[in-house]
Amino acid sequence: MMEAFGLRVEYKKNPIGIDVALPRFCWKIRSDRRETMQTGYRVQVSPARDGFENVVWDSGLQESDQSIHIVYEGSELGSRQRYEWRVKVWDNHGRESDWSGPAWFEMGLLAPADWKAEMVRPDLEEDPERSNPCPMLRKEFELTGEIESARLYIAARGLYEAWINGRRVGEDLFTPGWTTYEKCLQYQTYDVTDPLSSGTNAIGVLLSDGWFRGHLSPMNLRNMYGEKLGLLAQLEVRYKDGTGQTLVSDNAWRADTGPIREADFFNGEVYDARMERPGWNHPGFDDSGWHGVIPVDFDLKTLAAPVGVPVRKMEEIRPGAILETPAGETVVDFGQNLSGWARLTAAGPPGTAITMRYGEVLDREGNFYNKNLRHAKSRDVFLLKGEEEETYEPRFTFHGFRYVKVENYPGRLEPEHITAVAVYSDCEITADFDSSNPLLNRLFSNIVWSQKGNFVDLPTDCPQRDERMGWTGDILVYGPTACHVMMSGAFLTRWLRDLKNDQREDGLVPFIVPDPFSDLKVMRRKLIRRMREEKLSLVTFVDLSFAFHFVREAAGWIDAAIFAPWTLYLYYGDTRILETHYESMKALFSFREHRAKHLGSLLYVNPLKWFQPKTWKHITRFLTTSWHFGDWLAPGDGMNRSIVKSKLYLPTVFFAFDALLLSRIAEILGKGDDAALYRRRYEEIKEAYQHFRVKKSGRLWPDRQTHYVLALLAGLMPEEARGDAVENLVRLVRGAENRIDTGFLGTPFLCHILAENGHPDVAYDLLLQTEAPSWLYQVTKGATTIWEHWDAIREDGSFHSERMLSFNHYAYGAIGLFLLEKIAGVGVDEKKPGYKHVLIRPMPGGDLKNARASYDSIHGRILSEWEISSRSFVLRVEIPANVRATVVFPGSYAREVTENGTVVPLRDGATEVGSGSYVFECKA
Ligand code: BGC
Repeated sequence: MMEAFGLRVEYKKNPIGIDVALPRFCWKIRSDRRETMQTGYRVQVSPARDGFENVVWDSGLQESDQSIHIVYEGSELGSRQRYEWRVKVWDNHGRESDWSGPAWFEMGLLAPADWKAEMVRPDLEEDPERSNPCPMLRKEFELTGEIESARLYIAARGLYEAWINGRRVGEDLFTPGWTTYEKCLQYQTYDVTDPLSSGTNAIGVLLSDGWFRGHLSPMNLRNMYGEKLGLLAQLEVRYKDGTGQTLVSDNAWRADTGPIREADFFNGEVYDARMERPGWNHPGFDDSGWHGVIPVDFDLKTLAAPVGVPVRKMEEIRPGAILETPAGETVVDFGQNLSGWARLTAAGPPGTAITMRYGEVLDREGNFYNKNLRHAKSRDVFLLKGEEEETYEPRFTFHGFRYVKVENYPGRLEPEHITAVAVYSDCEITADFDSSNPLLNRLFSNIVWSQKGNFVDLPTDCPQRDERMGWTGDILVYGPTACHVMMSGAFLTRWLRDLKNDQREDGLVPFIVPDPFSDLKVMRRKLIRRMREEKLSLVTFVDLSFAFHFVREAAGWIDAAIFAPWTLYLYYGDTRILETHYESMKALFSFREHRAKHLGSLLYVNPLKWFQPKTWKHITRFLTTSWHFGDWLAPGDGMNRSIVKSKLYLPTVFFAFDALLLSRIAEILGKGDDAALYRRRYEEIKEAYQHFRVKKSGRLWPDRQTHYVLALLAGLMPEEARGDAVENLVRLVRGAENRIDTGFLGTPFLCHILAENGHPDVAYDLLLQTEAPSWLYQVTKGATTIWEHWDAIREDGSFHSERMLSFNHYAYGAIGLFLLEKIAGVGVDEKKPGYKHVLIRPMPGGDLKNARASYDSIHGRILSEWEISSRSFVLRVEIPANVRATVVFPGSYAREVTENGTVVPLRDGATEVGSGSYVFECKA
């Protein structure tokens, strides 16, 4: 048996409404024989239901082992068309598979001319300075024929939710998503054949502020993209007789408001059930008293199909406990910090206003705490209509929480009255980790939950306070772990599109994406106004203005423009992402080069060096411009100190990283001259770094863990000083009694660098440390997600600070990669990315008796599981078909290795294997 399965187009299973002109196909292979490799494939694409009679593309037999990202090469794909595709494969055992079952994809509206709809907005009186009731728009229409199929193409300024004849269209939340709206507004495509029927039908659409005009950012500013919401909808019906009918948003729609009196991501919803409009999204509703709509100017050219992954309700969690806190409040503990909301059931007199307030932790007295949410009110208010039992859950907001304080609940709140709904982007979970250390297992679970909580339409920093933005640095460091934990290909591809859209002409990339503050003047005006009206403190004002004006070139943040595509290449073998972003990466590098030519850098080097001729050679490759966030939140560094100090060393390190990655990328893309140029640049930056920053005996200044980690990782140490630099790092770790001294930028690579440079024991000591600062400290303090600060909750139960206190920030969760790649040993091979070749290299250590990681890679599932006993080290490995692996046995066990009773020949402690399951036994 051998077959292709798991067919995907552009990372997705059967996607509807895509607009990629040359989509790419991926499949996995199942085989009942070991050592199976694909030797050939044949792909066929045909119009749907054609039974592959009239194919638009037949690749013919291609002798190739490539099974991911096969680019479509057929005739032009048409708007609205659905295509079926199938694949058959040949293998090295001489077998030819059957055709796979057909998969499909459907194109969206590919040209602006396909749109007949116009954008409209409700003609309602609104106060732009506050949250207004959510508009409801509706339209009735007649369908005259027998329906074959129907599609709804829909977009909005703000958020929308649509219904047809009372049935919700799709299950996506927060559509159309947050993009750089001026340049790109996403529209979704839904198959709405089912809810429609011949005769009178009705469509109803709810709109809400969302990212478009709701509160955004730590400045808590509104209307960043405009003051008015808008709807663009086009319903296309095809009849069985081949004719069709199209219904569009136009000035014949009606609008009013209803039960959602307020909706905002930061502040939550206010829902008054007494104001529900029964039947509003069904035919026959009397809307004569409703208002009209007004056409809005809108550039159809900015429309784009979604590339990413929709947000959905993903999980439900029952209350762990309902507490009566010392303050006498009723607080529900769901036992897990998450993003989403609570669904509540209650019965009481009409108008009873029940408030649910969301919080991540209890304070040290055991009371509900939410001061860390800053401006975000994070509460939902439910006003009862007064029926026997009513249930409510919000739809246009989400909260980061583990605890819900319920106020004014009529009667006694029982567990069956409330459920937490976890809401996140529907990316499949692809990794699993388990070991003999329950704290490590909890750490892994916390990492997964932090990713769930921060993969909400875009990669955010945190889901709870007034921030929730696409901070570039956070995903730069967490990206590789993200690609393990979840299938993040489509999700990050979509975000990178915004990054490119937000890039400035001079090449600078914003530190948050999407960037609602590209126009600093507008931001300043809004901020000053807020300061006056709401008494925003001067400190906050100065802080935020400083960051947004002067830290815009932040090293380690904006470099995500190069790191993130590279990560997608490495983990998913995606070269198109490198092609797509190549010019953008080059532009960022040129920006940095231009800034480095600034002789101002001399001010930041030892004046004695001014008189050395070499200094003049190196100074233009030494970058100290602008301010930077530094090794953000490293222990003991206040935010400001981190910003000031970082100027001195970090920009050059990332300048070098960028050159290095760019030279590799250029090589992959076959651009030899560029590859050589960036390699040269890298060498020049490296020399400059060594000239200005490396002291004798591999010492760096400043002498801190992060500097050694990053310098070693970027290969910046002189060869002869590498060993000393590693020893210096070990000295610092041991000197800190095996505790972390790193922030956002150093942490992800700390254990890797130690382990790869001969000190796995030190890496284990850091990892298994339970005193702060450490990963497991948080776990012992009951964390269920990753914290922003190492010591967000201190030993004495007090909090780190009110202003920066997130309990759900994935940056430090980047250690997940170490658990999967190093401890369990499922490693990527840069030369054959996307796990076409796997490096199984387990690293037993600490007091671990066993560890296991499985990873559902783009090529299929990989497993590495080991167990140590006094007599042996047993390693179980599973490699999917069409993949090969090098299995490297840990030093002391790499002697007598048998597999199924047969001695395994080793070279340098390793053996090569093809697909299949293996159990290796190594004598202790
Ligand atoms: C965010 C971070 C972000 C940082 C920039 C914070 O407020 O929460 O995660 O990267 O600012 O330094």
